[in-house]
Amino acid sequence: MPLTDRIEGAVTRALGTTQGGSAPKQLAEALGYACLPGGARIRPTILLSVAMACGDDKPRMADAAAASLELIHCASLVHDDLPCFDDAEVRRGKPSVHRAYSQPLAVLTGDSLIILAFQTLARAAAVDGARAAQLSLTLSERTGMPNGICAGQGWESEPEIDLGAYHRSKTAALFIAATQMGAISAGHEPEAWYDLGALIGEAFQVADDLRDALLDEATLGKPVGQDDLHGRPNAVAELGVEGAFKHLSDILAGAIASIPSCPGEAALAKIVSMQAERIMPAVPARYQV
Ligand code: IPE
Ligand code: IPE
Ligand code: MG
Ligand code: MG
Repeated sequence: MPLTDRIEGAVTRALGTTQGGSAPKQLAEALGYACLPGGARIRPTILLSVAMACGDDKPRMADAAAASLELIHCASLVHDDLPCFDDAEVRRGKPSVHRAYSQPLAVLTGDSLIILAFQTLARAAAVDGARAAQLSLTLSERTGMPNGICAGQGWESEPEIDLGAYHRSKTAALFIAATQMGAISAGHEPEAWYDLGALIGEAFQVADDLRDALLDEATLGKPVGQDDLHGRPNAVAELGVEGAFKHLSDILAGAIASIPSCPGEAALAKIVSMQAERIMPAVPARYQV
């Protein structure tokens, strides 16, 4: 089955458990609105690709892990767009959740999706209890404090930002979760997969900074120029556009070199390169040599 079908199926199944009964209608609808249709689904794609490189002996486990990771990501976007964070009106080419529903419903949508993510892993304990527990622990470490996306967002409230720690926890955390959860789903130890996730995450952040600086809202489906607007430290401000592109290719080369030896190593290297091309913004003519 193609990866996209596995991902959409797993996310849709998880969301299905939140519907029906005596649930409040708007909140039930907002959960689907926040997750469907998705964005690039890059984190669950990496997770399933690593699981397959490690043999994918329990695909139901990997599917639950992929859904849980994407649910956390969607929740983080709903909260990130709120007026108290980035105050963004558009996400994935449509009004952000608080604009389409309301602020209280956006807070509750994010909360419900976070809970659903861990519930999805708890249900998958029926497939393999030990792996489900290890997946929950890994996902929680990369979501909460001190090294998860909560920490990343928390840095924005500090008077001085440690740029490395900010990016590692805001963006790289969920890529580290992606590679490590892929390995755990297939019964492999996660430690060896840390570097690949961290490097893809670093590359992704630099690519996101470039997109924010170079593209327009219609192309990106979300507001641009945000880093400048909010005075956030970013790779383009630090290295310039050309420097940021060069840095991006160096990190990606390092990411591919870091893939641990596993049965599907060569195929995984190809997938990582393909995903890298997807995230790489086109170099505008004025910067081409
Ligand atoms: C956006 O992530 C948030 C960042 C960490 C920069 P994505 O660019 O993966 O968002 P979607 O899921 O494709 O919309
Ligand atoms: C979002 O980061 C990261 C999280 C939600 C953890 P940004 O604020 O930089 O990403 P966009 O530009 O809104 O997607
Ligand atoms: Mg933000
Ligand atoms: Mg934002």
